[in-house]
Amino acid sequence: MKKAIFLFLITLQYCQINAQTDQQKAEALVRKMTLEEKVGQMTQVTFAVIAKGGWGDTEGNIDPAALKTAVVGHHVGSILNVNAHAFTVEKWHSIITQIQDEAKNTRLKIPVVYGLDGMHGQTYTLNSTLFPHNLALAATRNIAFATMAAKVTAKELRASGVRWNFAPVLDIGRQPLWSRFPETYGEDVYIAKTMGAAAVKAYEEDGLKNPTAVASCLKHYIGYSGSRTGKDRTPAYIPEIELREYYLPAFREAVRSGAATVMINSGEINGEPVHASKYLLTDLLRKELGFKGMIVTDWEDIKRLYDRHNVASSPRQAVAMAINAGIDMSMVPTDFSFYDLLLEAVKKGEVPISRIDDAVKRILVLKYRLGLFDDPYPEAAAKNNFGKPEYQTLALDAAHEAMTLLKNENNVLPLAKSTKVLVAGPAAQSLSALNGCWSYTWQGNNDQWYPSDSKTLYQAIADKLGAANVTTTSGKGFDNKSNYDVAALTAAATNADAIILCLGENAYAESPGNTRELQLPDDQIALAKAAAATGKPVILVLTEGRPRFITNIEPSMRGILMAYWSGKKTAEAVADVLFGDYNPDGRLPFSYPKSIGEIVLYDRKPTEDVREVFNDNVKGGYDPLFAFGHGLSYTTFEYSDLKLGSSVLTGNAKLIVSITAKNTGNRDGKHSVELYSHDLYASITPSMKRLRAFQKIDLRAGESKTVTFSLDKNDLAFVNAKMKTVTEPGEFEIMIGDKKAKFAYK
Ligand code: BGC
Repeated sequence: MKKAIFLFLITLQYCQINAQTDQQKAEALVRKMTLEEKVGQMTQVTFAVIAKGGWGDTEGNIDPAALKTAVVGHHVGSILNVNAHAFTVEKWHSIITQIQDEAKNTRLKIPVVYGLDGMHGQTYTLNSTLFPHNLALAATRNIAFATMAAKVTAKELRASGVRWNFAPVLDIGRQPLWSRFPETYGEDVYIAKTMGAAAVKAYEEDGLKNPTAVASCLKHYIGYSGSRTGKDRTPAYIPEIELREYYLPAFREAVRSGAATVMINSGEINGEPVHASKYLLTDLLRKELGFKGMIVTDWEDIKRLYDRHNVASSPRQAVAMAINAGIDMSMVPTDFSFYDLLLEAVKKGEVPISRIDDAVKRILVLKYRLGLFDDPYPEAAAKNNFGKPEYQTLALDAAHEAMTLLKNENNVLPLAKSTKVLVAGPAAQSLSALNGCWSYTWQGNNDQWYPSDSKTLYQAIADKLGAANVTTTSGKGFDNKSNYDVAALTAAATNADAIILCLGENAYAESPGNTRELQLPDDQIALAKAAAATGKPVILVLTEGRPRFITNIEPSMRGILMAYWSGKKTAEAVADVLFGDYNPDGRLPFSYPKSIGEIVLYDRKPTEDVREVFNDNVKGGYDPLFAFGHGLSYTTFEYSDLKLGSSVLTGNAKLIVSITAKNTGNRDGKHSVELYSHDLYASITPSMKRLRAFQKIDLRAGESKTVTFSLDKNDLAFVNAKMKTVTEPGEFEIMIGDKKAKFAYK
């Protein structure tokens, strides 16, 4: 009997321990930790720190002594990145296993959380599936792709033994010079917030313990993309009203979706580095947005408060500043200086222990949530989710819907499959020009690491038409000299019926992508001019991460297809569109400017919408080469019957808006129905239009569908002079295509 009671009590105690929340478990563990163990948890180092030969390692080989120094000696909580290029799944398993084995040698056996940048698919595992970058996903206007691509990315990361993804990028793409423009969802707030939140949900909704999920990391909070010069990591000057109107909504929405972690903007806003801003990190992110997860710095950004931003007069002051502002984990990442300095700072009373405990608790909660305390090793069940054939189909579907047909003079496209074509230009035989940054390497610019079945534009076109119908003057690789040989292009064009000219940008990431020019380089312009001079129809295919100006060559191009950096299946998607196997339906997620003096965004203010000429206002202030939302199809769509449920919207009621879309051409096609609103008068100058909703529909030739939207006052809101998000009573206009209707909000 006594034995039974004893067993009962033991079981009860066990159940109680198990019933503890992750929060309680983390708090209990924090109570057992030494200060050294705590600051170690807050330390994140890069792979080079534990690699054989440090930065010299290219094969992912761990130096056991260096690993011990990091994990046992300094109790590091997290490791990130690779040195040179992606590894196989097996290599990742061996890396993660060695690290977690070492963590078992520590006093408290706290597992290490590994983090990688899976930005458009899992960057750093060989043969992972690469999807269109966010900018191209935004062009699909199909939220399902943001969801599905993130789910596959999560599975392929987790299959590699990695449970933390540094994605999605939620920076808003309103500065086209910025080298990270392709990582954004473009210039519109609504697209960024809906697609970003969808990605976060997709990464995490299965539950972080599940082998199909990873922790997401919203980045780069906040204002990173607003650099005045467009150079990466340079100052932004963003008034609070603008910060809240354009930069904050995507983060707010993603926090609501339950994001586990946030990474901070390396830059400064209005002179204050974000890593040192208690207002932005604690007051706004934690208190106002209610973010409960873990905050990590970006690369070296605490050191930089001292040695680049010069707001801290010593490295230790920089550490104290950042931790007191609200940072939980430091991506140090190349040494243990942060560990040493934070220990000192706490001992000198410069950082309160309560702040340390709070940070460590958040890190441990993440690890509990990820199931790392249960089993930190690569999971067999996860491995089976790597590289499934259906991921390739998804990559192709997403790339198809990203393709944005900008120009189709006299329906030159689609070309007949019997056309003899010359495929020319630097992007014709380059994989990196189709995939861009974060593709098997950080810069993505080394074709060697791409899967062997990846196709270049030339290959995909040759596969479709038969090699006999396709010639090229381009050589392998974007920088190949022959790619720019104007005379060769002119000569080869003699035997061709049409020229497919593949121009744009080779892959770049971060500061290596800084540019002095948005104009396409002269050697590419020369190719376009020579191609046009042959008199043959020229179809321009653009693979680029940001709008490079083509204004001077556009008139002589018969067709223009914007292909972005659309991942593994870019080439196949381009070929399908050019030769009519796919009817394009992408829409520009940014305004394609004519020139540097014409950078006006679609949600312009009234005074940007006009040009003042001798005190007369004339229309035409918004004068891009191709407008936000532009995108042609091989069929035609017409709208009718725009109806509002009421002419007056009150309080929290819903306004139902419906419209009928008809496919009036003779091809089936997809179409994004986009609803814009215009607040006619407001206390803060209203935008001429703001995208409030969209729905992608599929219409057979001749078919009609009625699309219904439901709006409420929040969809009409803006940030007022008191920094409050409000909807003011007044008159509004709804615009869908060429149809308009007015209503009043009371
Ligand atoms: C980038 C981040 C990235 C980090 C780790 C930084 O340079 O700004 O986006 O997550 O490196 O690779």
